[in-house]
Amino acid sequence: MRIDIITVLPELLKSPFEASILKRAKEKGLVEVYFHNLRDYTDKSYNQVDDYQFGGGAGMVLMIEPIDNCISALKEQRKYDEIIYMTPDGDTLNQKMANKLSLVENIIILCGHYKGVDQRVRDSFITKEISIGDYVLSGGELGAAVLCDSIIRLLPGVLNDETSALTDTFQDGLLAPPIYTRPREYKGAEVPEILLSGNFPAIEKWREEKAYQRTKALRPDLLEE
Ligand code: ADE
Repeated sequence: MRIDIITVLPELLKSPFEASILKRAKEKGLVEVYFHNLRDYTDKSYNQVDDYQFGGGAGMVLMIEPIDNCISALKEQRKYDEIIYMTPDGDTLNQKMANKLSLVENIIILCGHYKGVDQRVRDSFITKEISIGDYVLSGGELGAAVLCDSIIRLLPGVLNDETSALTDTFQDGLLAPPIYTRPREYKGAEVPEILLSGNFPAIEKWREEKAYQRTKALRPDLLEE
């Protein structure tokens, strides 16, 4: 998979890709991630990429021209499955979306900044708008990092234990069951006996029951879906 991220703040984005699972995915050649600084795509003096809103109002708006230059240059080189714009008014990211996006070849992610982008960018280039939650961030960069993490960990071969992404919370529409590790007893708090029994069918059944109970208690909306 190839991910091209367009941003005015590449330095804000780089570190999440330099550690742990995302780093390993890149090193194994399972994903290529490229950062494109929007300022490299403007002809204006002082590398200007934003301007005042027509009609007045506070906040700067990212201009269409540098975004067009960057997206067009990328599209000349390969076909993109999705061109995603990170914005609080997009569809809220969920596991189903991450699963779907993990199956595609090439995506572009455009990070908004300041007030956002000229509406014509959204109308002309964007195929999908994604929010990471109902709150406003200073820009799309942190959202893009969250989106990329949720996708990249699903790519075959990225996680050591191939089954572990399948047992994640949400993967079967339920929250994950409780998990424990050593010690067996800590300050009087014990690990449930069943997990020490070696009876794997019974353990599986226990996990399913706990996942259901936890979902019913904490996220009943997931059961309605
Ligand atoms: N940009 C600003 N806020 C955002 C959010 N909640 N999700 C995605 N991108 C954003």
